[in-house]
Amino acid sequence: MSNASGDMRTLWYDDNAQQLKIIDQTQLPHQLLIMDIDTLEQACDAIVQMRVRGAPLIGITAAFGVYLALKKDPDTLASACNTLAKTRPTAVNLQWALTRLAEGLVSVPPAQRAEAALEMAKTLLAEDAAACSAIGDAGLALLEKLLAVKQARADDAVLNVLTHCNAGWLATGAWGTALAPIYKAHQAGLPVHVWVDETRPRNQGASLTAWELARSGVPHTLIVDNAGGHLMQHGMVDICLVGSDRTTASGDVCNKIGTYLKALAAFDNRVPFYVALPTSTIDFELSDGVREIPIEERASTEVSHVAGLDASGTACRVAIAPPDTTFSNYGFDVTPARLVSGLITEKGIFPATPQGLLDIKAWL
Ligand code: MRU
Repeated sequence: MSNASGDMRTLWYDDNAQQLKIIDQTQLPHQLLIMDIDTLEQACDAIVQMRVRGAPLIGITAAFGVYLALKKDPDTLASACNTLAKTRPTAVNLQWALTRLAEGLVSVPPAQRAEAALEMAKTLLAEDAAACSAIGDAGLALLEKLLAVKQARADDAVLNVLTHCNAGWLATGAWGTALAPIYKAHQAGLPVHVWVDETRPRNQGASLTAWELARSGVPHTLIVDNAGGHLMQHGMVDICLVGSDRTTASGDVCNKIGTYLKALAAFDNRVPFYVALPTSTIDFELSDGVREIPIEERASTEVSHVAGLDASGTACRVAIAPPDTTFSNYGFDVTPARLVSGLITEKGIFPATPQGLLDIKAWL
């Protein structure tokens, strides 16, 4: 990995060693640990434990998981897809990737399936990287426009972007979704500064987004999840930019829990609220996001404890509530289309409306 944002990878296939490798994101930001993934079970575990996470990356990992299963037993296409489909429920990219592999491989003779699956998984990875780069280009044009308006009032204006969770290269094939325009803007010399929501309960903002931005030298400030509304009331946010795990045919957007509250605050303060996503994140089958998107519920220990380093630098988890407390841990929420200013995709920027989604579909 170099430090140029577009060169960073969180999952790759080493052709020489014939080995799938990932960054174990559960160890960040304190340790950069590279892990080998050799079996279907390890691929599933990596998704469930969130060693890999983020909608596009979950789909890519699942595709390589199919390859690993077929390498061991070429007659396990359907069962491998079923097993992988159960790992996480909300990001539609998982189902999207599995359907693509299942449909592409079913007519391939079993003896050639593993090799074909590997090629498909590599293609999916490369396509996602290209899509995210194109999202970055489309989003860069938007950031340039917003900055020009701001600089017309003050030459030294800096563009302040607020983001939630981690939608950077760690979550995708490369570049990221919401962070891609930010990286491209930074590389183009635009003065950008990012407000990074810590993103309880797993703190992907603190542990992943802050780590990513620091590596690329993008100015940023970590804030508690509750701070965004205050910043917006005081004119300290020019645009909110987030990712999506599933976007419906009506433009509703499902993303990490807490995104909806940021969208409400943005709406109330007339701050543009954009969602960046590859089209693999769109579920054209669904229209009512609040009622129809399955929302993941995770372990209560993610709420009852926080992970970090103690004073001696040793990794530890500390309890933050009485042990007999009842906990609830919904992983995602839905932001209705009416609160979304636009969808930044690899095909350009579209309104979050049924017509906007039809226009995107026409490109596919
Ligand atoms: O639970 P996670 O960490 O997988 O959630 C990730 C997010 O919510 C991201 O914002 C989303 O996947 C879009 S990322 C490219």
